[in-house]
Amino acid sequence: MNSSRQQRIIEHFRRSIHSYDDGAKVQKLVGDTLIAKMAALGDIRYDRVLEIGCCTGSMTETLCRMKSVRELWVNDLVPECCYQAAERVGAVAGDIRLLAGDIERLAIPDGLDLIISSSTFQWLKDLPLAFNKFTTSLHDNGFLAFTMFGPGTMRQVRELIGVGLEYTSEGDLAEMLKRNFSLVEIETSCCTLYFQNAREVLRHIQATGVGGAGAYHWTPGKLRVFERDYRLQFGTEKGVPLDYVSTCVIARKGQSVR
Ligand SMILES: C[S@@+](CC[C@H](N)C(=O)[O-])C[C@H]1O[C@@H](n2cnc3c(N)ncnc32)[C@H](O)[C@@H]1O
Repeated sequence: MNSSRQQRIIEHFRRSIHSYDDGAKVQKLVGDTLIAKMAALGDIRYDRVLEIGCCTGSMTETLCRMKSVRELWVNDLVPECCYQAAERVGAVAGDIRLLAGDIERLAIPDGLDLIISSSTFQWLKDLPLAFNKFTTSLHDNGFLAFTMFGPGTMRQVRELIGVGLEYTSEGDLAEMLKRNFSLVEIETSCCTLYFQNAREVLRHIQATGVGGAGAYHWTPGKLRVFERDYRLQFGTEKGVPLDYVSTCVIARKGQSVR
């Protein structure tokens, strides 16, 4: 049984499937950067791979075009996302297996070479527990490679209406990971998108599925105040900004020798 929070997340991502690829410019950028960093490392194997939170399969496709993956498991909370990602890479990946559902509750395959995920882990409830689970599914030289959004992401919206996810900092992530992994790469970068007005910011948030981050009851009055305050507090000559902060991690199973 899904909680009401999870049901909301599912509904928002399900509704955004058709608009996601057009709107998710930052997610595309950080996913491409992750794949480029992985490509530059020679020692990752791509025989058995699990992707967590595949969404529309945008990064799945980039990965499968870059490397030949023999067995690819695609996971997402929204089953339609798994179907779409699988269809998208059908011609370029080997054996594709669907793993629909909450990755924190599902049994995941073992003996994996790589667990990869982009712009998804900020949605998980218990990240240290999830990392432990991933460790047992990776074989001894396996890799965990991911990006996730961090503190400061969509800070303008949080400051104005108090809604947003609980993000994990790069320092806290490094602490969690070093119990089971050695860090090959960890880097945080910022990116700001600009919109004509605050209403466009909200459209962007809906289009990329992030509207499920919190329950907020909009009324015409609240919307007017939001638009006015967003312009007054954050407006620039380029338009109104929306910040994203993303951490990119490549970690190898096994504690670092220090
Ligand atoms: C921002 S999208 C991911 C984007 C995609 N990886 C990309 O690079 O374009 C986040 C995805 O995570 C999924 N998700 C959220 N919580 C999840 C969970 N607990 N288990 C599996 N998937 C989850 C959502 O359904 C959504 O499709």
